[in-house]
Amino acid sequence: MEIKEGYFKQQQTKQQQTLKNSDTARKHQINHPSIFDSSLTPKTCPVIHGYPFVGVLPELLHNPLRLFQRAVKKHPGELVALKLGPIQAHLVTYPDHVQHVLNDNWQNFGKGEIMWKPIRQVMGKSLMTSQGESWFRSRRLMQPMFTAKQANALTELLVKIIASELARFEKVTDGGAIDMENEMALLTQNVILGVLFSSSIDRFRTETLAKALKVLVREVSRRVFLCVLPKQFSIPGERAFRNAIQTTDNTILTIIRARRQSGLNYGDLLERLLQARDEESKTGMNDQQLRDESITLFLAGNETTSTTLTWVWYLLDKHPEVEGKLRAEIDAVIGKRQPTCVDVAKLQYTKMVIQEAMRLYPPGWFLARVAQEDDVIDGYALKAGTTVLLCPYITHRLLKLWDRPEVFDPERFAPEHFTQRHSYSYFPFGGGPRYCIGKHLALLTTQLTVAMMVQKYRLRCVPGHPVEALPGITLRPRYGLRMTVEPV
Ligand code: HEM
Repeated sequence: MEIKEGYFKQQQTKQQQTLKNSDTARKHQINHPSIFDSSLTPKTCPVIHGYPFVGVLPELLHNPLRLFQRAVKKHPGELVALKLGPIQAHLVTYPDHVQHVLNDNWQNFGKGEIMWKPIRQVMGKSLMTSQGESWFRSRRLMQPMFTAKQANALTELLVKIIASELARFEKVTDGGAIDMENEMALLTQNVILGVLFSSSIDRFRTETLAKALKVLVREVSRRVFLCVLPKQFSIPGERAFRNAIQTTDNTILTIIRARRQSGLNYGDLLERLLQARDEESKTGMNDQQLRDESITLFLAGNETTSTTLTWVWYLLDKHPEVEGKLRAEIDAVIGKRQPTCVDVAKLQYTKMVIQEAMRLYPPGWFLARVAQEDDVIDGYALKAGTTVLLCPYITHRLLKLWDRPEVFDPERFAPEHFTQRHSYSYFPFGGGPRYCIGKHLALLTTQLTVAMMVQKYRLRCVPGHPVEALPGITLRPRYGLRMTVEPV
């Protein structure tokens, strides 16, 4: 309990300090009477009604970003209710409001049930899917494995895996085009399986698992977005979904059991999960918990990291001046040798490029919460049970917060600009106590991959190939990303 309170206090103090130190942040706060003062008469939330009966549900399924953009343009600075068939969801995009949901009153905003059902079928009871006490126990158990220091300790393993993945590119430097989105998906899949299971996963198991996980991602995405449909509507692909869950279970449980028996130390994430002990009960995880957490880490970390990298390549191709500066930094810091974790700390501009890519194309482009009890945000009353939608993609492009928001400009993330912003004007890794536990690992993996690829190759988009963001479970390029690879 002591840690619990300390942890949340720490989170809040950090947020408060950032806000206090920042004049610009104050300027950007919305000048409404009070977010918290429930004694004021509640304001009525503007509603986007859409069509009779279905409301804006068709547009939400077809083009949610356009719908959200339209909503914030029409009602700047406000919470906006969207009518989705029989229910209403509230779109929350302004930093003070986002902070209220993710941090200040986060305990009142659970993850809800309907949308999470298909995710829970795959991830089971894990850090991502649990709530309340059981979430807190998982987080307390796993947090120490994901600190910046612990992530850095994986650098050598990561470099080894990335280097072997890059060998594949040698075969495609003949001017032919490849789909960089697929390549990055393959690379991060092998990187994450590698840091999770290192050498205890052979080529055959990697391929079996990769195939099953691909089906799981496809089927979960479909089910998450169709969760608003009535229950009697059956979603196709049920058999493939169940088979993929079975294959994943068998493969991962076999790895876990073999590992327990081997008694060897592999220095990977599974090792850390096996060794973790709850500091109160002193117990570790059983096989089922290990299975749930491993799948969760894989699914949470894979597509998010690979789409980040894909957008980085796209943006670098479109901005040669940024690419030039990035190359100069990588040349100066690591030249042609393999990077170490000391180098990574010096790859400041590389990190800024990645952060700016995640501003324009946040892989976790939306987060959903459900109010547990009645609440008031900025004078708007929310009833218990209300679904709240947060959309980093929209917040990251609000004119009130960002100068020329559509422009790719990594300088926004120069250290001197950091304190001038509201901490919830940028939240690609979520926020509050449930922020992304894999943040350090993700940044390290992307920095290393960018540096190691730039050392060897120059990537160019195939002229005329259309590029458009497709909001699914992550924000991917709709038509993939055709690129050519030239040796440097
Ligand atoms: C660029 C890469 C990544 C992005 C953009 C990202 C984004 C996010 C976001 C937005 C959340 C919050 C979700 C919510 O509040 O509803 C989250 C949570 C989470 N992420 Fe990541 N993530 C990334 C990489 C990773 C990696 C590499 C791992 C692990 C290997 C990971 C594991 C998790 C887990 C377990 C949670 C749930 C934490 C909790 O609820 O306590 N993520 N991530």
